[in-house]
Amino acid sequence: MQGLFIALEGPDGAGKSTQIQLLQEYLEKKGYEIIVTREPGGTVISEAVRQIILNKEYREMSEKTELLLYAAARAQLVEEIIRPALKAGKAVICDRFLESSVVYQGIARGLGVDTVYAVNDFALEGLRPQLTILLDLDAEEGLRRKKNQAELDRMEAEGLEFHQRVAEGYRFLADREKERIMRISATLPKEEIHAKIVLAIEERILNRYQI
Ligand code: TYD
Repeated sequence: MQGLFIALEGPDGAGKSTQIQLLQEYLEKKGYEIIVTREPGGTVISEAVRQIILNKEYREMSEKTELLLYAAARAQLVEEIIRPALKAGKAVICDRFLESSVVYQGIARGLGVDTVYAVNDFALEGLRPQLTILLDLDAEEGLRRKKNQAELDRMEAEGLEFHQRVAEGYRFLADREKERIMRISATLPKEEIHAKIVLAIEERILNRYQI
């Protein structure tokens, strides 16, 4: 079996976890061995970096430091988990990946899309998911969904304007890279979203393997 690498993206509160679970069940039925992982995190070291990044006490963290820490967590995850899994023919589903940095650090923080790609090219050596799924949601709705949860982390605690730049940033990227990024409205019923994801994976990846 050929490895399969799918990333799910979207603003805070878009419902990625539910879709990841449905996708995992679908790919298991297809016979894949699955690795589900998340960013920042997924390895002992990357989870330790996550604790630093999301710690609300660290208000003084510079934007550059933030970008580099996300990239560091990602480099470790790729080397330790993702590359070996893909090599072994497994399916990797990642809750957030490169596009999160492009949107949150590159666009919402304003560090620039090209800067984010450059830093991450060093970290990833060109690795990209075969398909990135964007669960598209307005910032207001995302924050409303999150507010029902316990405590907000350092990123979630950013204001509405920041999260509006995130939502807009995702749309900009998805429009620019239609082949690589598929945009689905997160307000659709979960079964409908899942059906669209399955269709995209079959049309764009699995059917092509069989040719
Ligand atoms: P997490 O709780 O995993 O997000 P969610 O549950 O909303 O998916 O927290 C990760 C936070 O880090 C989230 O606010 C998005 C942000 N982030 C970045 O800013 N850049 C990145 O490269 C990644 C991976 C996440």
